[in-house]
Amino acid sequence: MQINVSKNYEELCKEVANFIVDEIKELSSPLLCLAGGDTPLGVYKNFVESRADFKNAMFIGLDEWVGLDGADSGSCRFTLDQSLYLPLAIEESKIQFFDGKATDLSRQCNETNQLLETNGPIDLVLLGIGMNGHVGFNEPGSSLDSICRVVSLDETTQTVGQKYFETQQELKQGITLGLKQVLDTRTVILIVSGEKKRSIVKKLLEDEKIDPSIPVSSLWQHPNCHLFVDEVAYSE
Ligand code: PGA
Repeated sequence: MQINVSKNYEELCKEVANFIVDEIKELSSPLLCLAGGDTPLGVYKNFVESRADFKNAMFIGLDEWVGLDGADSGSCRFTLDQSLYLPLAIEESKIQFFDGKATDLSRQCNETNQLLETNGPIDLVLLGIGMNGHVGFNEPGSSLDSICRVVSLDETTQTVGQKYFETQQELKQGITLGLKQVLDTRTVILIVSGEKKRSIVKKLLEDEKIDPSIPVSSLWQHPNCHLFVDEVAYSE
């Protein structure tokens, strides 16, 4: 895991945006998985301001709350629509995203698994890290072999997840890419910022080994993983 420490959130996002543009510039049709959540928003702002060219890219969703879709403010799809897909006019046909409101959720998983079997692996994934060390909704205890599935959300995720919504939500389940699909990705980027992430960054970096109770630590086995962190989150 390569570690890049930035002075502050603004620099962090600029560096990640530049890194991504550079990583994919030689690819004729990159398959990208860009996370929702708060931390990557500054990266997407950089893409929008610089009118980054994603016209040949395909996008695959990382995760979604079960019961929500792009029409729900605060959902993963809504966040990406507002911050990235709509401002950059990314065509719907280029986006494969989970519909958390679908009646048949296992079909949602199968479609994504199938797409990855045919067109995968993902070229580049940008991931935030949850307070409990989750990536996507791969909660503590997730298997390294896991693929797309519906999961029960950890209590921390249910509580912390309220921050995305104006009114209290029931956030019991999520639908997510699996750790295997993250680990199979050619380039993995982790982005972490702020004081509240200090303790998870410390746990990740302290032992440099895979601990099933900290899903992000599975990335110690990845040959091309880049952790971008600001000084505040890195300081312990
Ligand atoms: P955040 O979410 O970027 O909003 O902190 C990270 C995550 O839970 O994966």
